[in-house]
Amino acid sequence: MPKTIIISNRLPIKVQRTETGLAYETSEGGLATGLGSIYKTDDNIWIGWPGTFFNDEAEQEQVSKDLSEQSMHPVFLTEAEIRDFYEGFSNETLWPSFHYFSQYAVYDDTFWEAYQQVNRKFCQAVMERAEPGDTIWVHDYQLLLLPQMVREEVAESTIGFFQHIPFPSYEVFRLLPWREQILKGMLGADLVGFHTFDDARHFLSSVSRIVGWTSSQNLIDNGHRQIMVDAFPMGIDYEKYASLAASEEMKEKLKEYREALHDQKVMLSIDRLDYSKGIPQRLRGFELLLQEHPEFREKVTLFMLVVPSRDQVEQYRELKETIDELVGRINSSYRTITWNPIQYFYRSFPLEELSALYALADIALVTPMRDGMNLVCKEFVASKLDQSGVLILSEMAGAAKELSDALLINPNDLGAMVLAMQEAMVMPEEEQKLRMQHMQEILQQYDIHHWVSIFMNRLDYIKIKQMSLATE
Ligand code: G6P
Repeated sequence: MPKTIIISNRLPIKVQRTETGLAYETSEGGLATGLGSIYKTDDNIWIGWPGTFFNDEAEQEQVSKDLSEQSMHPVFLTEAEIRDFYEGFSNETLWPSFHYFSQYAVYDDTFWEAYQQVNRKFCQAVMERAEPGDTIWVHDYQLLLLPQMVREEVAESTIGFFQHIPFPSYEVFRLLPWREQILKGMLGADLVGFHTFDDARHFLSSVSRIVGWTSSQNLIDNGHRQIMVDAFPMGIDYEKYASLAASEEMKEKLKEYREALHDQKVMLSIDRLDYSKGIPQRLRGFELLLQEHPEFREKVTLFMLVVPSRDQVEQYRELKETIDELVGRINSSYRTITWNPIQYFYRSFPLEELSALYALADIALVTPMRDGMNLVCKEFVASKLDQSGVLILSEMAGAAKELSDALLINPNDLGAMVLAMQEAMVMPEEEQKLRMQHMQEILQQYDIHHWVSIFMNRLDYIKIKQMSLATE
Protein backbone atom coordinates (compact mmCIF):
# COMPACT_ATOMS: atom_id res chain seq x y z
CA MET A 1 0.00 0.00 0.00
CA PRO A 2 1.43 3.42 -0.92
CA LYS A 3 2.49 5.46 2.07
CA THR A 4 3.14 9.08 2.89
CA ILE A 5 6.70 10.04 3.78
CA ILE A 6 6.84 13.15 5.94
CA ILE A 7 10.19 14.88 5.91
CA SER A 8 11.18 17.73 8.16
CA ASN A 9 14.50 18.84 9.58
CA ARG A 10 13.44 17.99 13.13
CA LEU A 11 11.67 14.77 14.07
CA PRO A 12 8.71 15.12 16.47
CA ILE A 13 10.84 13.26 19.02
CA LYS A 14 14.25 14.46 20.14
CA VAL A 15 16.82 12.06 21.44
CA GLN A 16 19.09 13.08 24.27
CA ARG A 17 22.06 11.47 25.94
CA THR A 18 21.62 11.17 29.68
CA GLU A 19 23.65 9.52 32.41
CA THR A 20 21.36 6.52 32.29
CA GLY A 21 21.33 6.19 28.49
CA LEU A 22 19.28 7.61 25.66
CA ALA A 23 16.17 9.61 26.49
CA TYR A 24 13.32 10.35 24.08
CA GLU A 25 11.33 13.56 24.48
CA THR A 26 8.75 15.46 22.47
CA SER A 27 10.22 18.20 20.27
CA GLU A 28 9.26 21.84 20.59
CA GLY A 29 7.88 24.09 17.89
CA GLY A 30 4.76 24.38 15.80
CA LEU A 31 5.64 21.78 13.21
CA ALA A 32 6.36 18.94 15.62
CA THR A 33 3.45 19.66 17.96
CA GLY A 34 1.07 20.22 15.06
CA LEU A 35 1.86 17.10 13.05
CA GLY A 36 3.06 14.93 15.91
CA SER A 37 -0.29 13.36 16.57
CA ILE A 38 -1.32 12.38 13.03
CA TYR A 39 1.51 10.73 11.17
CA LYS A 40 1.27 7.34 12.82
CA THR A 41 -1.58 6.07 10.65
CA ASP A 42 -1.12 3.32 8.03
CA ASP A 43 2.44 2.69 6.88
CA ASN A 44 3.40 6.34 6.93
CA ILE A 45 6.87 7.29 8.09
CA TRP A 46 8.67 10.44 9.19
CA ILE A 47 12.26 11.23 8.23
CA GLY A 48 14.23 13.87 10.12
CA TRP A 49 17.07 14.83 12.44
CA PRO A 50 16.83 13.48 16.02
CA GLY A 51 18.12 16.78 17.45
CA THR A 52 21.46 15.68 18.93
CA PHE A 53 24.90 15.02 17.48
CA PHE A 54 25.63 11.29 17.32
CA ASN A 55 29.04 10.20 16.10
CA ASP A 56 29.29 6.74 17.53
CA GLU A 57 28.03 4.04 15.15
CA ALA A 58 26.63 1.80 17.84
CA GLU A 59 24.71 4.76 19.26
CA GLN A 60 23.39 5.68 15.82
CA GLU A 61 22.22 2.13 15.32
CA GLN A 62 20.43 2.16 18.66
CA VAL A 63 18.70 5.46 17.87
CA SER A 64 17.65 4.18 14.41
CA LYS A 65 16.26 0.99 15.91
CA ASP A 66 14.32 2.76 18.69
CA LEU A 67 12.89 5.37 16.35
CA SER A 68 11.92 2.92 13.63
CA GLU A 69 9.60 1.26 16.14
CA GLN A 70 7.69 4.52 16.04
CA SER A 71 7.82 4.83 12.24
CA MET A 72 10.59 7.42 12.36
CA HIS A 73 13.89 7.37 10.52
CA PRO A 74 16.76 9.56 11.63
CA VAL A 75 19.05 11.61 9.42
CA PHE A 76 22.22 12.15 11.46
CA LEU A 77 23.95 15.50 11.12
CA THR A 78 27.64 16.05 11.76
CA GLU A 79 28.83 18.85 14.05
CA ALA A 80 29.85 20.93 11.01
CA GLU A 81 26.41 20.40 9.46
CA ILE A 82 24.66 21.43 12.65
CA ARG A 83 26.77 24.59 12.69
CA ASP A 84 26.60 25.56 9.01
CA PHE A 85 23.32 24.07 7.83
CA TYR A 86 21.10 24.20 10.93
CA GLU A 87 22.40 27.15 12.95
CA GLY A 88 23.93 28.78 9.89
CA PHE A 89 21.91 28.85 6.69
CA SER A 90 18.59 27.74 8.20
CA ASN A 91 18.58 29.94 11.27
CA GLU A 92 20.99 32.78 10.52
CA THR A 93 20.06 33.29 6.88
CA LEU A 94 16.59 31.99 6.05
CA TRP A 95 14.84 32.40 9.40
CA PRO A 96 15.64 36.12 9.84
CA SER A 97 15.05 36.85 6.13
CA PHE A 98 11.66 35.17 6.05
CA HIS A 99 10.56 36.86 9.28
CA TYR A 100 11.43 40.34 7.97
CA PHE A 101 14.55 40.60 10.15
CA SER A 102 16.93 40.95 7.19
CA GLN A 103 19.26 43.05 9.30
CA TYR A 104 20.11 39.84 11.20
CA ALA A 105 20.69 37.74 8.07
CA VAL A 106 24.16 36.36 7.41
CA TYR A 107 25.08 35.74 3.77
CA ASP A 108 27.83 33.15 3.82
CA ASP A 109 28.84 30.76 1.02
CA THR A 110 30.00 28.10 3.49
CA PHE A 111 26.50 28.06 4.99
CA TRP A 112 24.97 27.79 1.51
CA GLU A 113 27.28 24.87 0.60
CA ALA A 114 26.26 23.04 3.77
CA TYR A 115 22.59 23.75 3.09
CA GLN A 116 22.82 22.12 -0.33
CA GLN A 117 24.80 19.20 1.04
CA VAL A 118 22.34 18.46 3.85
CA ASN A 119 19.34 18.77 1.53
CA ARG A 120 21.10 16.14 -0.63
CA LYS A 121 21.58 13.97 2.43
CA PHE A 122 17.85 14.14 3.16
CA CYS A 123 17.16 13.33 -0.49
CA GLN A 124 19.24 10.19 -0.18
CA ALA A 125 17.32 9.18 2.96
CA VAL A 126 14.05 9.64 1.07
CA MET A 127 15.29 7.60 -1.88
CA GLU A 128 16.25 4.74 0.43
CA ARG A 129 12.67 4.45 1.62
CA ALA A 130 10.43 5.71 -1.17
CA GLU A 131 8.52 3.23 -3.31
CA PRO A 132 6.47 3.87 -6.45
CA GLY A 133 3.14 5.48 -5.59
CA ASP A 134 4.30 7.01 -2.29
CA THR A 135 3.52 10.60 -1.49
CA ILE A 136 6.49 12.70 -0.43
CA TRP A 137 5.55 15.53 1.91
CA VAL A 138 8.41 17.95 2.62
CA HIS A 139 8.13 20.48 5.44
CA ASP A 140 9.62 23.86 6.10
CA TYR A 141 12.43 26.24 5.33
CA GLN A 142 15.31 23.94 6.24
CA LEU A 143 14.52 21.76 3.21
CA LEU A 144 13.64 24.19 0.44
CA LEU A 145 15.85 22.43 -2.12
CA LEU A 146 14.59 18.95 -1.38
CA PRO A 147 11.46 18.94 -3.61
CA GLN A 148 13.55 19.59 -6.75
CA MET A 149 16.24 17.09 -5.69
CA VAL A 150 13.61 14.35 -5.31
CA ARG A 151 12.03 15.36 -8.64
CA GLU A 152 15.41 14.95 -10.37
CA GLU A 153 15.69 11.42 -8.96
CA VAL A 154 12.15 10.32 -9.83
CA ALA A 155 10.44 12.64 -12.29
CA GLU A 156 6.89 11.36 -11.72
CA SER A 157 6.99 11.57 -7.88
CA THR A 158 4.07 13.08 -6.02
CA ILE A 159 5.61 15.84 -3.94
CA GLY A 160 3.91 18.25 -1.58
CA PHE A 161 5.78 21.06 0.14
CA PHE A 162 4.49 23.05 3.10
CA GLN A 163 6.21 26.07 4.61
CA HIS A 164 5.43 26.68 8.28
CA ILE A 165 6.97 30.15 8.46
CA PRO A 166 6.03 33.30 6.52
CA PHE A 167 7.09 33.83 2.93
CA PRO A 168 8.30 37.44 2.73
CA SER A 169 7.42 39.99 0.09
CA TYR A 170 9.53 40.05 -3.08
CA GLU A 171 11.40 43.16 -1.89
CA VAL A 172 12.70 41.25 1.12
CA PHE A 173 13.11 37.85 -0.52
CA ARG A 174 15.24 39.23 -3.34
CA LEU A 175 17.93 40.29 -0.87
CA LEU A 176 19.01 36.63 -0.68
CA PRO A 177 21.93 35.92 -3.02
CA TRP A 178 20.59 32.38 -3.66
CA ARG A 179 17.00 33.45 -4.30
CA GLU A 180 16.62 31.77 -7.69
CA GLN A 181 18.04 28.39 -6.62
CA ILE A 182 15.78 28.47 -3.55
CA LEU A 183 12.64 29.10 -5.58
CA LYS A 184 13.54 26.42 -8.11
CA GLY A 185 14.09 24.00 -5.25
CA MET A 186 10.59 24.62 -3.91
CA LEU A 187 9.08 24.46 -7.39
CA GLY A 188 10.12 20.83 -7.65
CA ALA A 189 6.91 20.13 -5.69
CA ASP A 190 3.47 19.61 -7.27
CA LEU A 191 1.78 21.56 -4.53
CA VAL A 192 3.37 24.38 -2.51
CA GLY A 193 1.41 25.33 0.61
CA PHE A 194 1.59 28.25 3.03
CA HIS A 195 -0.44 29.24 6.08
CA THR A 196 -1.93 32.40 4.58
CA PHE A 197 -2.95 33.84 1.21
CA ASP A 198 -0.47 36.66 1.68
CA ASP A 199 2.42 34.18 1.93
CA ALA A 200 1.19 32.40 -1.22
CA ARG A 201 0.82 35.74 -3.00
CA HIS A 202 4.35 36.80 -2.05
CA PHE A 203 5.71 33.50 -3.29
CA LEU A 204 3.92 33.77 -6.64
CA SER A 205 5.19 37.28 -7.11
CA SER A 206 8.81 36.21 -6.41
CA VAL A 207 8.45 33.26 -8.81
CA SER A 208 7.27 35.48 -11.64
CA ARG A 209 9.86 38.21 -11.04
CA ILE A 210 12.87 36.05 -10.26
CA VAL A 211 12.30 32.80 -12.17
CA GLY A 212 10.11 34.32 -14.88
CA TRP A 213 7.39 31.65 -14.62
CA THR A 214 3.97 33.22 -14.71
CA SER A 215 0.87 31.94 -13.01
CA SER A 216 -2.79 32.06 -13.66
CA GLN A 217 -4.80 32.15 -10.46
CA ASN A 218 -2.78 29.84 -8.25
CA LEU A 219 -1.32 27.60 -10.96
CA ILE A 220 2.23 28.02 -12.22
CA ASP A 221 3.08 26.56 -15.63
CA ASN A 222 6.75 25.78 -16.20
CA GLY A 223 6.25 24.40 -19.69
CA HIS A 224 6.26 20.74 -18.54
CA ARG A 225 4.20 20.66 -15.41
CA GLN A 226 1.62 22.66 -13.52
CA ILE A 227 2.44 23.55 -9.92
CA MET A 228 -0.28 24.60 -7.54
CA VAL A 229 0.29 27.20 -4.84
CA ASP A 230 -2.28 27.68 -2.10
CA ALA A 231 -3.01 28.67 1.49
CA PHE A 232 -3.74 25.98 4.08
CA PRO A 233 -4.03 27.50 7.56
CA MET A 234 -2.82 24.80 9.92
CA GLY A 235 -5.12 23.72 12.72
CA ILE A 236 -4.44 21.91 15.99
CA ASP A 237 -5.50 18.58 17.42
CA TYR A 238 -8.51 20.27 19.01
CA GLU A 239 -9.89 17.15 20.69
CA LYS A 240 -6.55 16.43 22.34
CA TYR A 241 -6.43 19.84 24.05
CA ALA A 242 -10.12 19.91 24.90
CA SER A 243 -10.10 16.45 26.47
CA LEU A 244 -6.86 17.09 28.36
CA ALA A 245 -8.49 20.17 29.89
CA ALA A 246 -11.54 18.11 30.82
CA SER A 247 -9.64 15.38 32.69
CA GLU A 248 -10.06 14.93 36.44
CA GLU A 249 -6.34 15.30 36.99
CA MET A 250 -6.44 18.69 35.29
CA LYS A 251 -9.33 19.90 37.39
CA GLU A 252 -7.38 18.99 40.55
CA LYS A 253 -4.30 20.82 39.33
CA LEU A 254 -6.33 23.86 38.39
CA LYS A 255 -7.91 24.03 41.82
CA GLU A 256 -4.52 23.88 43.46
CA TYR A 257 -3.14 26.70 41.24
CA ARG A 258 -6.21 28.86 41.76
CA GLU A 259 -5.93 28.59 45.53
CA ALA A 260 -2.26 29.54 45.44
CA LEU A 261 -3.00 32.62 43.35
CA HIS A 262 -5.94 33.83 45.47
CA ASP A 263 -8.07 35.98 43.18
CA GLN A 264 -5.33 37.35 41.01
CA LYS A 265 -5.76 37.33 37.26
CA VAL A 266 -3.28 35.32 35.23
CA MET A 267 -1.74 36.51 31.98
CA LEU A 268 0.04 33.80 30.04
CA SER A 269 2.86 34.00 27.56
CA ILE A 270 4.40 30.86 26.01
CA ASP A 271 7.01 30.87 23.25
CA ARG A 272 10.22 29.36 22.06
CA LEU A 273 13.09 31.78 22.69
CA ASP A 274 12.94 33.75 19.44
CA TYR A 275 13.23 37.40 18.40
CA SER A 276 10.28 36.91 16.02
CA LYS A 277 8.00 36.32 19.02
CA GLY A 278 8.18 39.87 20.38
CA ILE A 279 8.95 38.85 23.97
CA PRO A 280 10.76 42.08 25.03
CA GLN A 281 7.98 44.17 23.47
CA ARG A 282 5.40 42.19 25.45
CA LEU A 283 7.36 42.72 28.66
CA ARG A 284 7.58 46.45 28.01
CA GLY A 285 3.82 46.48 27.44
CA PHE A 286 3.27 44.74 30.77
CA GLU A 287 5.63 47.15 32.50
CA LEU A 288 3.72 50.10 31.07
CA LEU A 289 0.43 48.59 32.21
CA LEU A 290 1.71 48.44 35.80
CA GLN A 291 3.15 51.92 35.55
CA GLU A 292 0.08 53.60 34.09
CA HIS A 293 -2.51 51.53 35.94
CA PRO A 294 -1.53 51.15 39.58
CA GLU A 295 -4.99 49.67 40.16
CA PHE A 296 -3.79 46.44 38.49
CA ARG A 297 -0.74 46.02 40.71
CA GLU A 298 -1.08 42.91 42.89
CA LYS A 299 -4.15 42.01 40.81
CA VAL A 300 -2.38 40.27 37.93
CA THR A 301 0.58 37.95 37.46
CA LEU A 302 2.28 37.32 34.16
CA PHE A 303 3.30 33.67 33.73
CA MET A 304 6.01 33.80 31.13
CA LEU A 305 7.33 30.52 29.74
CA VAL A 306 10.27 30.76 27.40
CA VAL A 307 11.32 27.47 25.89
CA PRO A 308 15.08 27.29 25.18
CA SER A 309 15.83 27.28 21.45
CA ARG A 310 18.81 27.73 19.09
CA ASP A 311 20.90 29.11 21.94
CA GLN A 312 24.13 28.67 19.99
CA VAL A 313 23.03 31.46 17.64
CA GLU A 314 24.23 34.90 18.73
CA GLN A 315 20.91 36.75 18.29
CA TYR A 316 19.18 34.18 20.50
CA ARG A 317 21.81 34.44 23.23
CA GLU A 318 21.47 38.22 23.22
CA LEU A 319 17.71 37.99 23.34
CA LYS A 320 17.93 35.74 26.39
CA GLU A 321 20.00 38.40 28.17
CA THR A 322 17.54 41.14 27.22
CA ILE A 323 14.64 39.12 28.58
CA ASP A 324 16.48 38.28 31.82
CA GLU A 325 17.24 41.96 32.35
CA LEU A 326 13.73 43.14 31.63
CA VAL A 327 12.14 40.57 33.92
CA GLY A 328 14.61 41.49 36.65
CA ARG A 329 13.90 45.19 36.22
CA ILE A 330 10.11 44.84 36.25
CA ASN A 331 10.03 42.42 39.16
CA SER A 332 12.42 44.46 41.26
CA SER A 333 10.50 47.70 40.58
CA TYR A 334 7.00 46.46 41.30
CA ARG A 335 7.16 43.37 43.49
CA THR A 336 5.75 43.41 46.98
CA ILE A 337 6.31 40.99 49.85
CA THR A 338 3.35 38.90 48.75
CA TRP A 339 3.31 39.45 44.98
CA ASN A 340 5.69 38.93 42.09
CA PRO A 341 4.52 40.56 38.84
CA ILE A 342 6.24 38.05 36.55
CA GLN A 343 6.72 34.33 37.10
CA TYR A 344 9.41 33.62 34.55
CA PHE A 345 10.39 30.09 33.50
CA TYR A 346 13.19 29.30 31.04
CA ARG A 347 12.65 25.63 30.27
CA SER A 348 10.27 23.36 28.44
CA PHE A 349 7.10 22.05 30.02
CA PRO A 350 5.23 18.76 29.57
CA LEU A 351 1.96 18.94 27.70
CA GLU A 352 -0.16 18.31 30.83
CA GLU A 353 1.44 21.28 32.55
CA LEU A 354 0.87 23.53 29.53
CA SER A 355 -2.71 22.43 29.36
CA ALA A 356 -3.22 23.36 33.03
CA LEU A 357 -1.71 26.79 32.41
CA TYR A 358 -3.94 27.36 29.39
CA ALA A 359 -6.97 26.44 31.45
CA LEU A 360 -5.82 28.66 34.31
CA ALA A 361 -4.99 31.77 32.28
CA ASP A 362 -7.49 34.62 32.13
CA ILE A 363 -5.57 36.31 29.36
CA ALA A 364 -3.18 34.88 26.77
CA LEU A 365 -0.63 37.27 25.29
CA VAL A 366 0.44 36.07 21.86
CA THR A 367 2.15 39.07 20.33
CA PRO A 368 4.79 38.02 17.77
CA MET A 369 6.46 40.57 15.51
CA ARG A 370 5.96 37.98 12.77
CA ASP A 371 4.73 34.38 12.86
CA GLY A 372 3.79 31.92 10.13
CA MET A 373 0.74 30.69 12.05
CA ASN A 374 1.23 30.38 15.84
CA LEU A 375 -0.39 27.36 17.41
CA VAL A 376 -0.07 28.48 21.05
CA CYS A 377 -3.06 30.82 20.68
CA LYS A 378 -5.11 27.99 19.18
CA GLU A 379 -4.15 25.62 21.99
CA PHE A 380 -5.21 28.24 24.55
CA VAL A 381 -8.63 28.64 22.92
CA ALA A 382 -9.18 24.87 22.72
CA SER A 383 -8.38 24.50 26.43
CA LYS A 384 -10.97 27.03 27.65
CA LEU A 385 -13.80 24.63 28.39
CA ASP A 386 -15.89 27.19 30.27
CA GLN A 387 -15.32 29.70 27.45
CA SER A 388 -13.89 32.30 29.78
CA GLY A 389 -10.63 34.05 28.94
CA VAL A 390 -9.35 36.66 26.52
CA LEU A 391 -6.86 36.23 23.73
CA ILE A 392 -4.64 39.19 22.83
CA LEU A 393 -3.19 38.38 19.44
CA SER A 394 -0.75 40.09 17.10
CA GLU A 395 -1.98 40.96 13.63
CA MET A 396 1.38 39.67 12.40
CA ALA A 397 0.57 36.05 13.31
CA GLY A 398 -0.99 33.92 10.57
CA ALA A 399 -3.62 32.85 13.13
CA ALA A 400 -5.00 36.43 13.26
CA LYS A 401 -6.63 35.82 9.87
CA GLU A 402 -8.88 33.17 11.43
CA LEU A 403 -9.20 34.45 15.00
CA SER A 404 -10.77 37.83 14.44
CA ASP A 405 -12.59 37.53 17.78
CA ALA A 406 -9.32 37.97 19.62
CA LEU A 407 -8.20 41.45 20.67
CA LEU A 408 -5.96 42.10 17.68
CA ILE A 409 -2.98 44.40 18.12
CA ASN A 410 0.07 45.63 16.27
CA PRO A 411 3.00 44.57 18.51
CA ASN A 412 4.93 47.71 17.57
CA ASP A 413 2.18 49.83 19.05
CA LEU A 414 2.92 49.72 22.76
CA GLY A 415 -0.03 51.97 23.56
CA ALA A 416 -2.42 49.61 21.77
CA MET A 417 -0.93 46.65 23.62
CA VAL A 418 -1.50 48.31 27.00
CA LEU A 419 -5.03 49.25 25.98
CA ALA A 420 -5.77 45.65 24.99
CA MET A 421 -4.39 44.36 28.31
CA GLN A 422 -6.54 46.87 30.15
CA GLU A 423 -9.62 45.86 28.14
CA ALA A 424 -8.89 42.18 28.77
CA MET A 425 -8.57 42.77 32.52
CA VAL A 426 -12.09 44.18 32.75
CA MET A 427 -13.90 42.42 29.88
CA PRO A 428 -17.38 41.27 30.99
CA GLU A 429 -17.76 37.50 31.16
CA GLU A 430 -20.53 37.47 28.58
CA GLU A 431 -18.35 39.13 25.99
CA GLN A 432 -15.49 36.74 26.77
CA LYS A 433 -17.80 33.79 26.19
CA LEU A 434 -19.15 35.11 22.93
CA ARG A 435 -15.71 35.71 21.50
CA MET A 436 -14.34 32.41 22.78
CA GLN A 437 -17.26 30.47 21.41
CA HIS A 438 -16.75 31.87 17.91
CA MET A 439 -13.07 31.05 17.99
CA GLN A 440 -13.70 27.55 19.30
CA GLU A 441 -16.19 26.83 16.53
CA ILE A 442 -13.63 27.76 13.90
CA LEU A 443 -10.80 25.76 15.47
CA GLN A 444 -12.96 22.72 16.07
CA GLN A 445 -14.00 22.63 12.43
CA TYR A 446 -10.60 23.44 10.90
CA ASP A 447 -8.51 21.14 13.03
CA ILE A 448 -5.31 19.31 12.15
CA HIS A 449 -7.16 16.38 10.55
CA HIS A 450 -9.01 18.76 8.28
CA TRP A 451 -5.72 20.46 7.39
CA VAL A 452 -4.03 17.19 6.42
CA SER A 453 -6.97 15.95 4.39
CA ILE A 454 -7.45 19.17 2.49
CA PHE A 455 -3.74 19.37 1.63
CA MET A 456 -3.71 15.75 0.48
CA ASN A 457 -6.90 16.18 -1.57
CA ARG A 458 -5.44 19.19 -3.32
CA LEU A 459 -2.25 17.25 -4.02
CA ASP A 460 -4.28 14.40 -5.58
CA TYR A 461 -6.22 16.93 -7.61
CA ILE A 462 -3.14 18.56 -9.12
CA LYS A 463 -1.60 15.15 -9.95
CA ILE A 464 -4.77 14.08 -11.78
CA LYS A 465 -4.86 17.41 -13.59
CA GLN A 466 -1.23 17.02 -14.67
CA MET A 467 -1.93 13.53 -15.99
CA SER A 468 -4.98 14.61 -17.96
CA LEU A 469 -2.98 17.52 -19.46
CA ALA A 470 -0.20 15.11 -20.44
CA THR A 471 -2.61 12.81 -22.31
CA GLU A 472 -4.46 15.62 -24.10
C1 G6P B 1 9.37 26.53 14.01
C2 G6P B 1 9.75 25.98 12.65
C3 G6P B 1 10.07 24.49 12.72
C4 G6P B 1 11.09 24.22 13.81
C5 G6P B 1 10.61 24.80 15.14
C6 G6P B 1 11.60 24.61 16.28
O1 G6P B 1 8.14 26.03 14.42
O2 G6P B 1 8.72 26.23 11.72
O3 G6P B 1 10.56 24.03 11.49
O4 G6P B 1 11.35 22.85 13.95
O5 G6P B 1 10.36 26.18 14.97
O6 G6P B 1 12.85 25.11 15.93
P1 G6P B 1 14.14 24.20 15.92
O7 G6P B 1 15.21 25.06 15.34
O8 G6P B 1 14.36 23.83 17.34
O9 G6P B 1 13.84 22.99 15.08
